[in-house]
Amino acid sequence: MDYINDAKKARHLVLEEYDEAARTNSRVRRGFFITNECLTYINEFDIQDKEVLTVCGSGDHAFTCLLNGAKSVDTFDYNPIQFYIMELKRAAIEVLSKEEFLKFFPLTGVNRENYKIEYYLRIRDALKPEARYFWDTVYSANDRLYLLNFSSYNILFESDYTKRYEELQRKVKEDNISFKQTDLFTMPKLFNKKYSLIILSNIYDHLKNFNDNYSPEEYLNFINENVMPMLEDDGACVFHYQLSRTRDIVTTEFTNCDTIKCLGDSAKVLRKK
Ligand SMILES: C[S@@+](CC[C@H](N)C(=O)[O-])C[C@H]1O[C@@H](n2cnc3c(N)ncnc32)[C@H](O)[C@@H]1O
Repeated sequence: MDYINDAKKARHLVLEEYDEAARTNSRVRRGFFITNECLTYINEFDIQDKEVLTVCGSGDHAFTCLLNGAKSVDTFDYNPIQFYIMELKRAAIEVLSKEEFLKFFPLTGVNRENYKIEYYLRIRDALKPEARYFWDTVYSANDRLYLLNFSSYNILFESDYTKRYEELQRKVKEDNISFKQTDLFTMPKLFNKKYSLIILSNIYDHLKNFNDNYSPEEYLNFINENVMPMLEDDGACVFHYQLSRTRDIVTTEFTNCDTIKCLGDSAKVLRKK
């Protein structure tokens, strides 16, 4: 990862010109600090001591998989800021008490009171060096990290962090989460393990934002040909997280696929057998 360049761009984003930078810098956009999904669907899979691959986003998918017993979690994302956010969150969980963590890294609305430098200074030693360089650079601009936040609040995620925080603290100390910066379409070439569970969140919606003509059939073909071979024989792929009609993005495709209901939303699943 080009963490020096990423840090420069993020610093630019938290300074006054962040709107301009977000428009012009495709490499560092604002990021997801909190999942906007109801992640209870992950509980439906037996991943005890198994390998998981997930889109990174906020890191919440990876942390939830660790809490559910995953041996290790590989993550990928085309937005490099997601790695820095996940690592910031990981270090915060490792070092801060639950009450402190929720002030630093809120699960609902984000504002100026969050991501305070006082907390950052306590967690920075626990960060991986690239992430420490990144956040040191951003904080040296100012502590308005909330400006980097893309989805400002989470309405559905009933967090296991608050219920099983001490357990999560123990899990995140083990070095068992990896990250690769890549687009979904290149991703299968970069990972050569077999996984028990693969989670692709609602990447499909993002693809459609860039290409209106991208059809559900094309997406399913890509998944079947390139992602399903990455699974263990009894593995499963959550190939789409479908937001409900009351949310901003709505898709109605994949109606005939195996579905796990998560409050009003649905996780769409393909199983290897
Ligand atoms: C699909 S988004 C939506 C947020 C997600 N529901 C969550 O809870 O974090 C999750 C992540 O997917 C990443 N992403 C979107 N399209 C992608 C693609 N084609 N390849 C790789 N990552 C992608 C975004 O950068 C974002 O961090």
